[in-house]
Amino acid sequence: MSKTFAAITGVHGYVPDYVLTNEELEKMVDTSDEWITSRTGIKERRILKGVEKGTSVLGIEAVKGLLEKTGTNPEDIELLICATVTADMHFPDTANLIAAATGLTKAYTFDLSAACSGFLFALTTASQFIAAGTHKKVIVVGADKMSAIVDYTDRSTCILFGDGAGAVLLEPSGEYGVMDQQLHSDGQGQHYLYMKGGGSFHPPSAETIANKEHFIVQDGKPVFKAAVSGMSDVVSKVMARNGLTNDSVAWLVPHQANKRIIQTVASMADFPIEKVMVNIQKYGNTTAATLPLCLFDWEKRLHKGDNLILTAFGGGFTWGALYLKWAYDTPS
Ligand code: UT7
Repeated sequence: MSKTFAAITGVHGYVPDYVLTNEELEKMVDTSDEWITSRTGIKERRILKGVEKGTSVLGIEAVKGLLEKTGTNPEDIELLICATVTADMHFPDTANLIAAATGLTKAYTFDLSAACSGFLFALTTASQFIAAGTHKKVIVVGADKMSAIVDYTDRSTCILFGDGAGAVLLEPSGEYGVMDQQLHSDGQGQHYLYMKGGGSFHPPSAETIANKEHFIVQDGKPVFKAAVSGMSDVVSKVMARNGLTNDSVAWLVPHQANKRIIQTVASMADFPIEKVMVNIQKYGNTTAATLPLCLFDWEKRLHKGDNLILTAFGGGFTWGALYLKWAYDTPS
């Protein structure tokens, strides 16, 4: 019997209007445009302003645009998975809120949390439903309002993150789509990148607020090292077992956490930087949104049959690589 793959048949992205520049950050903490640019590659990031605006606002815009551009009837969507670590609330899931606002009345929905690897984990999960033949139209969203959990007095983290969302439509194909992947988790990483307060471990209290436990904490150097070795390892393994070389891969699509990490992973896999998607300078690290925002930014340059290698690394630790055969030429 021939195999069914989950093809991406549309992608859309959304970032909020407000641009937080390095120059503005220079006025908030002891940093400089020179330090941020040379150490991370980031020049600006987008911030969702306004009260009672959660991650769902970003996801809704991405899904609305996706439905519109692919001419999809919202009632035909059977499943929506939202990867996020900044859900609007503990429950209901942000996926439910996105579905309600975009008319997905027939879909069941859930959130998936794997930090910066969230989109890769969600895409893998969703693709299994298509490959199994049980689902025909599935949406995967990666969305994070990182500004909600960033301490804007901590120069080591506040310069890194931004807000954004991306969404893809998955449909069955005999030829294109998610061909292979390798994902990993290692709980030892919990000590280097985390947000301590607000869950069942340290429920919110005056004390957790006073101790700033509702913000991201990161020990950057060990995360940097683990990100480079983790992503390089899985990229080479996925490429090798699919007979891919850096000539036959059109694009490397890496998580956007630090330009130096991206450059090191690319050079370890012998990828010329011209074949690596990099938009960190515009958005910073948008966590679960980085990969779909790359696909969205590059959509017009992608061709049917292009081999893409997606890779990500994030809190947990979580990491992985995924081999995707692009399914369409963008109509001009
Ligand atoms: O997406 C999830 C996974 N996350 C990642 O992959 C991030 C991985 N880590 C990184 O990208 C980098 O470690 C950072 C960008 C977070 C930090 O870069 P670094 O080169 O590892 O810097 P560092 O933390 O070792 O700090 C070097 C110096 C320190 O000063 P001293 O101790 O040498 O005097 C810091 O205090 O740079 C200082 N520093 C800053 N200086 C100016 C830290 N942040 C800043 C800043 N502006 N914003």
